Amino acid sequence: MKRFLIFAVLCAPFCDAADLALTPPMGWNSWNKFAEKIDDKAVRGVADALVSSGMKDAGYVYVNIDDSWEASRDAQGNIQTNSKFPDMKALADYVHSKGLKIGIYSSPGPKTCADYEGSYQHEEQDAKTWEAWGIDYLKYDWCSAEKVYKPTEMQAVYKKMGDALKATGRPIVFSLCQYGLQNVWEWGGSVGGNLWRTTGDIEDTWKSMSTIGFDKQLGHEKYAEPGHWNDPDMLEIGNGGMSATEYRTHMSLWAMLAAPLLAGNDLRDMSDATRQILLNKEVIAIDQDKLGRQGRRVSKEAGAEMWMRPLENGDLALAFFNRSEAMVSITAFWEILGLKGKHKVRDLWAHQDLGAFRDSYSAQVAVHGVVMLRVAR
Ligand code: GLA
Repeated sequence: MKRFLIFAVLCAPFCDAADLALTPPMGWNSWNKFAEKIDDKAVRGVADALVSSGMKDAGYVYVNIDDSWEASRDAQGNIQTNSKFPDMKALADYVHSKGLKIGIYSSPGPKTCADYEGSYQHEEQDAKTWEAWGIDYLKYDWCSAEKVYKPTEMQAVYKKMGDALKATGRPIVFSLCQYGLQNVWEWGGSVGGNLWRTTGDIEDTWKSMSTIGFDKQLGHEKYAEPGHWNDPDMLEIGNGGMSATEYRTHMSLWAMLAAPLLAGNDLRDMSDATRQILLNKEVIAIDQDKLGRQGRRVSKEAGAEMWMRPLENGDLALAFFNRSEAMVSITAFWEILGLKGKHKVRDLWAHQDLGAFRDSYSAQVAVHGVVMLRVAR
């Protein structure tokens, strides 16, 4: 015990932030559904719903408050909460009492994207405040930093907060949000980041989700590993702008991408269809696979795409996607996937073993739909 304590004290400023988020973070974020209409009461309700819906047990543990909690600073420069969040420490205690973790949001600029107080020139002070509140996750959003820093300063600016978080000694997941500028996947980990947004904001439409998920992640897969994840943005599942079929595609694609699974809907008021999509434990297991290898596109023909992700036990996750406006049939030839002979196939949405198949497996895929499979070695 004593030895551990000495190690913890010595390590505090230097511990590798990558020990955090060994699998992609899972939880909820307020922005997609609530934007600025989020408050203490709603966050408590969402925390309750994470538990009662079974999502917590499925791995969704971060309750992340996005922009709009901030007020100005007091005479000592300490960041204040606005009237929507009367007592952040009490809220954090409540979230922790449910066995969950709590996240917060800021910007390295003077103002956040929604024009609230940012952390500019108060980085260490803010990190200490968050540590005192019991914060477990920070999303740090570039926003107005572009007005006060040169583009060449961006990495140092993110490192400053990465170092400040580490210096608190509290394990705080560090989420970079600067929309993929300057190939952030190449340096996000080296400034202390556990995940980094790769694109601009997602919208609750097929076009936005599919463009971000299918087209804008290509080539980033080699930068993902335990502790370091590409972030194609938060989930829109259940927000109403897509069909259940499209939301299943959204969930499957994010799992293939080893993406953070941050639900973005109102968890207090979810349909059964939404709950079933977010709670598909076989798809979640692909997302959370401990090997931490991000999947990649294997083939693309018109709107038919096949994606593959290697898993820790040697199995392969395989997804057939249909981006076209007509039903398609997709065939996976084992040879292309580096497999030979007969392999067992399981359908992760039908929750069914389909049998053992020699040389290939084919399936029909609905318009904008997915067939997601686990192929045994
Ligand atoms: C940016 C981010 C969003 C959200 C808003 C909040 O647009 O990319 O995810 O955090 O700011 O203002």
